[in-house]
Amino acid sequence: MRIYVIGAEGQVARSLREAAAADKEIEFGFGRRPDVDLLNAVSIERAIAAFRPDVVVNPAAYTAVDKAESEPDLAFALNRDGAGVVAAAAADQGIPVIHLSTDYVFDGMKTGAYVESDPVNPQSVYGRSKLAGELAVAAANPRHVILRTSWVYAPFGGNFVRTILRLASERDRLRVVNDQVGCPTYAPDIADAIRGIAGRVAGGWQPHYAGVTHLAGPDPMTWYAFAKQITDLAASRGGRSILLDPISTSDYPTAAVRPANSQLSSAKLAAVFDVGLPPLKQSLTDCLDRLLGI
Ligand SMILES: NC(=O)c1ccc[n+]([C@@H]2O[C@H](COP(=O)([O-])OP(=O)(O)OC[C@H]3O[C@@H](n4cnc5c(N)ncnc54)[C@H](OP(=O)(O)O)[C@@H]3O)[C@@H](O)[C@H]2O)c1
Repeated sequence: MRIYVIGAEGQVARSLREAAAADKEIEFGFGRRPDVDLLNAVSIERAIAAFRPDVVVNPAAYTAVDKAESEPDLAFALNRDGAGVVAAAAADQGIPVIHLSTDYVFDGMKTGAYVESDPVNPQSVYGRSKLAGELAVAAANPRHVILRTSWVYAPFGGNFVRTILRLASERDRLRVVNDQVGCPTYAPDIADAIRGIAGRVAGGWQPHYAGVTHLAGPDPMTWYAFAKQITDLAASRGGRSILLDPISTSDYPTAAVRPANSQLSSAKLAAVFDVGLPPLKQSLTDCLDRLLGI
């Protein structure tokens, strides 16, 4: 099987690169900027046609949630138009596209975990641009799998785990938001799931693969609870013990509004693709093993 990935250095793209190094069954290609750029449709079309993949995976996006509030045109150019270009280029080759989307398409007012049929109502430019991307992908390629994920972390890239570890090494006390609930999701787990899904969709497209599927870690929690797990695990390896103070969203104003609850149910992922994600403890332990040494 041949898989072409847009991007190479993002959390998910880099996790796919690591998976590629260990997987001799799949031949991966990675589109790197500036040669392959979401803002340059021809570069995307050429790269996909030249690689002749069985599946295209698109984790590339404008992901700066707060900055998007002041750069809506760029966010939409990448997350809506770029996403549509990738999906259309895959359609031109008669192959499926696996596209990454976000929990921030929801407004957070639901109690409990969101399922795929729940109404969307994004509260930020980023969320609106990603929702527009979902619609563009679905319109451009009937063979689309849209994977909504959430709270992504990895041993590399910009993410909450690395930020908390850095702050914990600099300070004795940290204030962390305790009234937003979501599902932390480990990028290497996303990469494993994508490989499984790609194998299925390339092996014979089924109409029920099409549409949105949630793909998120199985343990919902607040940012504060996540920070506590990170600092406790780090302390158990000899890191500094620090005090965490739970605060509310209103104590930590940001440019973009985030959903108070964006738990995602991954039941459909298991039912349709037979894929499940490991518990947080296992994934976070792996992440800290890599960041701090075992
Ligand atoms: N991070 C999260 O917490 C989170 C939560 C929910 C959903 N998601 C979604 O999950 C997906 C993967 O997120 P991530 O955390 O891996 O993102 P990330 O680490 O911020 O990486 C973004 C990726 O987008 C690529 N990119 C940016 N501008 C580009 C352009 N003009 N042309 C081509 N590629 C471009 C980057 O390319 P380079 O490789 O060249 O840097 C990089 O690979 C995204 O669709 C995101 O919206 C993320």
